[in-house]
Amino acid sequence: MAHELIPGLEGIPIAESKVSFVDGQKGRLEYRGISVEDLAENSTFEETAFLLMYGHLPSQGEFEEFNEEFQRVFRLKYQIVDLMKHLPETGHPMDALQAGVAAIGMFYQPRSNLTEAQRRLACTRILAKTPCLVAAFQRLRHGEEWPLPLKHLGLAANFLYMMTDKEPDPEAARVLDVCLILHADHTMNASTFAGRVVGSTLADPYCVVSSALGALSGPLHGGANEDAMRLFEAIGTPENARPYIEDMIKNKKKIPGFGHRVYKTIDPRAKILKKHAETLAKKSGNPIYQIAVEAEKVVTEHYAAKGIWPNVDFFSGIVYSELGIPRDCFTPIFAIARVAGWLGHLLEQLEGNRIFRPTQIYTGQHDQPYVSMNER
Ligand code: COA
Repeated sequence: MAHELIPGLEGIPIAESKVSFVDGQKGRLEYRGISVEDLAENSTFEETAFLLMYGHLPSQGEFEEFNEEFQRVFRLKYQIVDLMKHLPETGHPMDALQAGVAAIGMFYQPRSNLTEAQRRLACTRILAKTPCLVAAFQRLRHGEEWPLPLKHLGLAANFLYMMTDKEPDPEAARVLDVCLILHADHTMNASTFAGRVVGSTLADPYCVVSSALGALSGPLHGGANEDAMRLFEAIGTPENARPYIEDMIKNKKKIPGFGHRVYKTIDPRAKILKKHAETLAKKSGNPIYQIAVEAEKVVTEHYAAKGIWPNVDFFSGIVYSELGIPRDCFTPIFAIARVAGWLGHLLEQLEGNRIFRPTQIYTGQHDQPYVSMNER
């Protein structure tokens, strides 16, 4: 069989999938056939997670059962809190999250040959505990106590509560809920692929999610929203946006938060996030939103014709900052949301699973002699 190397497997399907769909020309993203706009308007993150994992919107009974189980597994074991306490406070929250998820798996047996019910419970556990891990690390690294999640709050509100020790106002919690919905899945990408590869070995869901987290932690995957925030700060004032961006364009510098491998028009998630960024920034009086809007104008004037438009990262950093989230927790929030998609892909992978075993093109030598140490 002839083999041709396609770097990055660009354009090569690695699975058939019903989890999510992107139309990059029309700027459309769907989860299980439902547009993200519709879900952002009408759903919650928990319900969207159920949809991604189990393929349909839950009935009242299914959702109550899911939420009950969710609440039961929400808190972290004290050994895990201790583990978080002993991680270096200078370490990155993504690494703490990855270590935490892998360690949680050690508490639950069996680790392989899970029944459907055991796998389902593991999925709920991971979904519920990831926000706790991020919040616990954030609080403990500052020498603060980590509060237990509250039974009457949903995941987004609980996350904000655990991060700040204050019950968030419902509007702020809803904005974070929408952000989580928007980041919950995005077809085949590096972390989802990594998760499916590990899942195909029948490793347990904790291993699957911790490997996907490792993939997401790389700067080519998560993180452009942090760079976008740095850009807005460097621009400083709305008036400075035009000369600053024009200078970047002249010097062929990439604008963070712009451009996408798939979207050749505005990313539908960016449109929704922009509205929330505007509302929050108006409320707080933060001028950063106006800087972003002026920068967006200049970049689109130059690049829209080339298919370079704002992506999900252009406005999400503003939203997170307005919600009081520290910058190095932006990618962990992406991860809290994307756990839902990773688990949906894992469950899909396991239907008719075949272990991934690609091939390679060997470019090394053959028939080399072993040379003893003193002759090298
Ligand atoms: N600013 C300026 N020019 C950009 C650009 C940006 N943000 N994104 C792409 N381009 C230009 C490239 O310079 C290149 O121009 P050329 O054809 O004249 O050489 C062309 O558009 C294609 O870019 P390329 O990097 O090959 O596209 P890609 O599909 O491989 O990359 C990204 C997609 C997301 C990696 C890229 O757009 C990027 O680096 N964006 C900034 C970082 C970012 O926002 N990442 C988050 C993605 S969700």
